[in-house]
Amino acid sequence: MELLNFENAKTDIHRLLISQLDLEKLSRIDGERARHAVSTMIQQIVAAGRVPFNAAEKEKLNGDLLDEVFGLGPLEPLLRDHDISDILVNNKNDVFIERQGLLEKLNISFRDDAHLMQIIDRIVSAVGRRVDESTPMVDARLADGSRVNAIIPPLALDGPALSIRRFGRGPLDPDSMLAFKSISPEMLELLCAAVKARISILISGGTGAGKTTLLNMLSRSIPDRERIITIEDAAELQLSNPNVIRLETRMPNVEGQGAVRQRQLLINSLRMRPDRIIIGEVRGEEAFDMLQAMNTGHEGSMCTVHANTPRDALSRLESMVAMTNLNFPEKTVRLQIASAITIVVQVSRMSDGTRKVVNISEITGLDENVINMHEIFTFKKKGIAPSGKVVGVFQPSSIRPRFMEQLQVAGVSLRGDIFDHAMEVN
Ligand SMILES: Nc1ncnc2c1ncn2[C@@H]1O[C@H](COP(=O)(O)OP(=O)(O)OP(=O)(O)O)[C@@H](O)[C@H]1O
Ligand SMILES: [Mg+2]
Repeated sequence: MELLNFENAKTDIHRLLISQLDLEKLSRIDGERARHAVSTMIQQIVAAGRVPFNAAEKEKLNGDLLDEVFGLGPLEPLLRDHDISDILVNNKNDVFIERQGLLEKLNISFRDDAHLMQIIDRIVSAVGRRVDESTPMVDARLADGSRVNAIIPPLALDGPALSIRRFGRGPLDPDSMLAFKSISPEMLELLCAAVKARISILISGGTGAGKTTLLNMLSRSIPDRERIITIEDAAELQLSNPNVIRLETRMPNVEGQGAVRQRQLLINSLRMRPDRIIIGEVRGEEAFDMLQAMNTGHEGSMCTVHANTPRDALSRLESMVAMTNLNFPEKTVRLQIASAITIVVQVSRMSDGTRKVVNISEITGLDENVINMHEIFTFKKKGIAPSGKVVGVFQPSSIRPRFMEQLQVAGVSLRGDIFDHAMEVN
């Protein structure tokens, strides 16, 4: 049967199915039995109809319709595929995915805008949020921890759009990061040691460069005895530490009230006796309070920022602080940044789809009016192999970090030859 005919027949059967289903009753019986009951109904409808499905078509029909009734419709098969890292629905007809770092368009579509809206509703209502004309943008997350953003008309011009960021089978562990050649063993060792020794780290990178993933991985090095509070707009971090409290912002309600922003959560978290605070991504006013926290006893706190170079990351922070405190002298802000943050890690998505830590820099203070920063490790790109793979080298600079002393004081030891090895990537 042609795809279009199949889809049309499926729509008809779906409509019949919905008209016969007692959703309220269905919600009272357990998952497996409910699925079985619905499957039986589908078979009956197919048998009563005159459309000749072959065995494979019947199976697909059954699977698709179960996904519609119990799950997220056409998105379900994509969510089951753990190789897919992003699911991007531009509109009802255009669905893209990212696999192994590269985008591809899929040949799937939603019946109409209403169908897509229904699925978006199902996702956001599950986390107590909503999306409608008065709140046409929303962040949410799926049960598996995937981050979801939905934006609908009138802001999205061609119908509802949905972006889902997946996190594979759980956070990447250090071994996989090494296997993916995202970082060299020496760089990894240095960063993990810095985390143990409560040296504050800022992770910088562009969209989808791997900031959150790196933050997750580095958090594993936080000693178990420490208490961590995480603050996010849409909870994505998956920390395995024993003493963690996760906080998430809240959108305003229909009357425009009740919003809770990152800054408010941060101020509250200071009364919760945190050893470290982790902000998923600093975007605005909370930058100021985060720097203050880092300067006043919450060393070892971490956050990410959207920026293209370590320098750029510092200016982004600076403008966030300046925007919240209009009358702060520039120098004060820079001093605050320089004393709060010691390491800036830059991550980047390469043309071959891999993510790499392209720079580890150390901030050493303020000179005149400029923040002093030097590179400790960099990834130098040399070219692209015929296979499309990026070729280059993870390289230590000739400068030894000043924070080595801090490591020592904290009793964290490093291999002596950590700054002697470059790692070729080819
Ligand atoms: N080192 C890596 N190797 C392979 N895949 C990675 C790596 N780091 C991240 N990814 C994958 O890339 C995608 C984007 O990662 P992540 O969410 O950490 O990026 P981000 O910079 O936080 O993005 P955003 O700006 O959207 O918050 C995820 O699907 C993640 O699993
Ligand atoms: Mg992120």
